[in-house]
Parts: sequence; structure tokens; C-alpha cells
Amino acid sequence: MKITFFSAKKYDIDSFTKANLQYNFELEFFETHLGPHSIEMLQNADAICVFVNDKLNRQVLEGLSKKNIKYVALRCAGFNNVDLDAARELGINVCRVPAYSPEAVAEHALALIMTLNRKTHKAYNRVREQNFSLQGLMGFNLNEKTVGVIGTGKIGAAFCRIMLGMGCKVLAFDLMVNKELEAAGVEYLPLIELLQQSHIISLHCPLNEQTTQLINHQTLSLTQPKVMIINTGRGKLIDTKAVIEALKNGHVGYLGIDVYEQEEKLFFKDLSTEIIQDDTLQRLMSFPNVLVTAHQAFFTEEALNEIADITLQNVQALSQQKPQAVAKALLA
Ligand code: NAI
Repeated sequence: MKITFFSAKKYDIDSFTKANLQYNFELEFFETHLGPHSIEMLQNADAICVFVNDKLNRQVLEGLSKKNIKYVALRCAGFNNVDLDAARELGINVCRVPAYSPEAVAEHALALIMTLNRKTHKAYNRVREQNFSLQGLMGFNLNEKTVGVIGTGKIGAAFCRIMLGMGCKVLAFDLMVNKELEAAGVEYLPLIELLQQSHIISLHCPLNEQTTQLINHQTLSLTQPKVMIINTGRGKLIDTKAVIEALKNGHVGYLGIDVYEQEEKLFFKDLSTEIIQDDTLQRLMSFPNVLVTAHQAFFTEEALNEIADITLQNVQALSQQKPQAVAKALLA
């Protein structure tokens, strides 16, 4: 069984090579992303392993089918980048890693909040230049602030627990109520009320038709002045242009994003010597109250080890015709 990897970085090669000691698959790694241009690189592979910004549309899936690819293993949780109907029609199994260290992402959301609030990124640079002034570094106590969590699945639930621990009042909106969180003190409300009452809003729902541009002109108009918006979900959960307007007029007080609408052209690459053509991202990065990280919320040692192990386990179960063993991971 040969698995060909796309968008593979050194840390992927390291974690998968280590996990593969248990499985003994033949692994082949390409740094390039998967797209119509890279299908010809496939040589006798049975499965491919891809990441968040590899686009598996119908054209790409048809190309994979012609190359006899039977399994697509996503080494991530989100799957908005795959045309699952096309995969089903072509008889290609698609699996993902439904859960891996949700705390990794939830803790990164907290890191975004704490950095934006207490400005540790500015303090770090200032002190190194022997500037010990506190001017401009004032934050606010998180204790007793109201935090609205949209999507209380695995990551949202971990984030709720963290924010309860910080002494916050935690409000939630989800299609399903998590009774354990409710018992722990989380209050489920309709979306409108959550937007109206929260000082901080954190997005942890998947990207789908209902959630695309959930944060837009209209929903922003309901939020508290100086609201802090945190997005570690997917870039398209936010209408970036609407948020830029709200940042310019001061209604949005802070924005922390680990994901961005057009990230596939930028994230995971070193573009430090290039001219960035994306004016929207450049505008975002020009605000002093905006913090952008490049899809790193998942990036902990524990999470990478789990991702590698679960991905290979998924491929093994599928290749041994045991789809029920990976039912939770199987998308098509
Ligand atoms: P999950 O499937 O456990 O939870 C998603 C929750 O969102 C569920 O409770 C679901 O009922 C809820 N939901 C679905 N539609 C909704 C709607 N219209 N409104 C409100 N809630 C809705 O997923 P998990 O593992 O918690 O991940 C959440 C998202 O986080 C993923 O879909 C992915 O996009 C993103 N993610 C980001 C990472 C990063 O590194 N930045 C890493 C991993 C995931």
C-alpha cells in the first residue's frame, strides 16, 4: 500500500515517518499542494494524504480516479475543501481525523485573546529595545467578561471549559445543546442574543452553507461596541470586508484570526521576500488591534502525533475493508 502526501512539510514527514513504524506503508511526500497540476506526479499510489488547502473538486477527484486512487485521507478535521458527492460517485473513500487534541486549537484561541488584550507581542519588542514604557499596553480583566462561543463541538467545548476557568460568563450557540457544558455553567442562547451580549465572540463551528459569512455587516451591527472577534474555525466564516469596515469605524475593537478566506495562496509558505498581492490581508495586518496567525492553532506536538497515527489507522482500516472501524472518520 502506497500513500502519496501533498502539501507535506518537514514536520509532517517527521510525524508520519514515526507513526508509520507501526504500519509499514510505503510513504511518498510532495511539498506541492494537490491540484490539476500535480496529479501526474502520482505513480502507483493507492491512497493520497492531503491537508486543509488542497482543493479536491470534481476535476481533481476525476484525475485521482483515473490514477486508481482508492482512498483520500485528510490529515485534518475540516472537510469543506472536498466535493464529497463527486468522491461518492467515483467510488473514492474519503476519511478525516475527526478529533485530535481539541485543546490545541482551544488553547490557541486563548493565546489570540490574551495577546490582543494584554499586548504581549508589543511588550516583547519594546523591552528588547529598552523601552519600558507602559503607554498603549493597557488591557482588560477577562474575569467576569462575557464570552460567546459559536459551535460547541469538541474544540468549542474545550474552549468553553478554558473560559469558565478564566472566570468568564460563557454563552453558547449550537444546533445541539451539550448538557455537560450546561451543567458546568455555559448558557445556550439564540445567536442574536449571544451576539448582543458578548464582549468576546469565538467561532468554532464548521464552514458550511449555513455558516458561510456568519459574521457579516448585519450580525456585526448586533454586537457590543469594541467587541473582540476570534476565528480559529475557517476563514469564510467571516465576511472580511465587513470586518475591515467595522475595524475602521472602531466598532470591532479586536480581531484575532488563525484562518483567512484566501489563505490557500499564502499560509504555510515563507513569502518574506515576495510582494503580497492580497490587499485585503495587507489591510488587515495594518491594524494595530488585529492579530493574524497562519493556521497554526492545531500545531502542537501532541496534535501532530495524533493526526499521523489516526490518519494511518484510517487508511489501514479502509484497505482492510473494515469501514465500520473508522465510521466516525469516514466522509464518503
Ligand atoms: P465538531 O464537529 O466537534 O464541532 C462542530 C460544532 O459546530 C458541532 O457541535 C455542530 O453542531 C456545530 N455547528 C454546526 N453547524 C452549526 C451552525 N450552523 N451554527 C452553530 N453551530 C453549528 O468540530 P471541531 O473538532 O470542534 O472543529 C470545529 C472546526 O474547527 C472545524 O470544522 C474546523 O473548521 C476548525 N478547525 C480549525 C483548526 C485550526 O488549526 N485552526 C484545527 C481543527 C479544526
